[in-house]
Amino acid sequence: MNLEKFPHYPLMFGPSPLHPLKRLSEHLGLEIWAKRDDCNSGLAYGGNKVRKLEYLLPDALAQGCDTLVSIGGMQSNHTRQVAAVAAFAGLKAHLVQEHWVNWHDAVYDRVGNIQLSRILGAKVELNPSGFSIGLRESWQRALDTVRERGGKPYAIPAGASDHPLGGLGFVGFAAEVAEQERQLGVFFDHIIVCSVTGSTQAGMIVGFTAQEKARKVIGIDASAKPRETFEQILKIARFTAEAVELGREITPEDVILETAYAAPEYGLPSEATLEAIRLCARLEGMITDVVYEGKSMHGMMDLIQKGAIPKGSKVLYAHLGGAPALNGYAGLFV
Ligand SMILES: Cc1ncc(COP(=O)(O)O)c(C=O)c1O
Repeated sequence: MNLEKFPHYPLMFGPSPLHPLKRLSEHLGLEIWAKRDDCNSGLAYGGNKVRKLEYLLPDALAQGCDTLVSIGGMQSNHTRQVAAVAAFAGLKAHLVQEHWVNWHDAVYDRVGNIQLSRILGAKVELNPSGFSIGLRESWQRALDTVRERGGKPYAIPAGASDHPLGGLGFVGFAAEVAEQERQLGVFFDHIIVCSVTGSTQAGMIVGFTAQEKARKVIGIDASAKPRETFEQILKIARFTAEAVELGREITPEDVILETAYAAPEYGLPSEATLEAIRLCARLEGMITDVVYEGKSMHGMMDLIQKGAIPKGSKVLYAHLGGAPALNGYAGLFV
């Protein structure tokens, strides 16, 4: 495998922290650790997109682009991270924020991620279109707008996923885990990851496959459109494997996506999501959100409790960020 051939612009503090979740492990009767990509960088709280953007930013700079153009929901973590990276690199950001979530908190369009993007100086464009992880007309229009004004846009799709370089960050994540395992004298046989636009899990699949050790990367779908998310993960894992010269094809059997935890729909929690968020917070002081990590936390807890992750396993929970969006859900926790 060859990841080193791709230009890489460090945007994180270094390897993200990895630590045991002792009280949660005791509660569930099995060893659980967390890898903290939710606090991996000083750029506007960090998160999984900062790790991906380490490979997209050098490409944008090499092409002489002056504006990062991206898209997400109103409370997108991704667009907030694009805004932060643009500010850091002295570029502009144009963000299309669509109406992906059926949630009407009075300040949903003013607090959390969208507030941070505005503070970071991004042009924030609100758009009424609904949820989709596919390519968007509104995003194409934003690219045209930048061009018409004489700028040079760099196109970053939702979640920085369906992009030739989108999977590379999490290929590197796998190598980082292996090095931390070596230092800590531990081996994780199960990795838990929340999936929506797919390149986080896709990159992990490629990176961990390259290590040729028996472990499972278990995706927990939070899109509530699991067929689309599965296809995206497979597609991105395939082109990423080819790009890094993995030396073997990624097949549908390599993609594990648990689909029972996304209810009731994208962006909204179930009562079980909220219970998982509270339990994790009260046992560990670790905050997970209602859109993404609360769902993967619920999935991990349930898979352990029902024995799908067998006793004696060592589980790594990949914490990908998302807490700033909680501000838009104030009404849920009163
Ligand atoms: C906090 C958080 N967790 C998980 C995900 C899912 O990652 P991906 O879109 O790469 O599947 C995202 C972004 O979509 C996110 O912001």
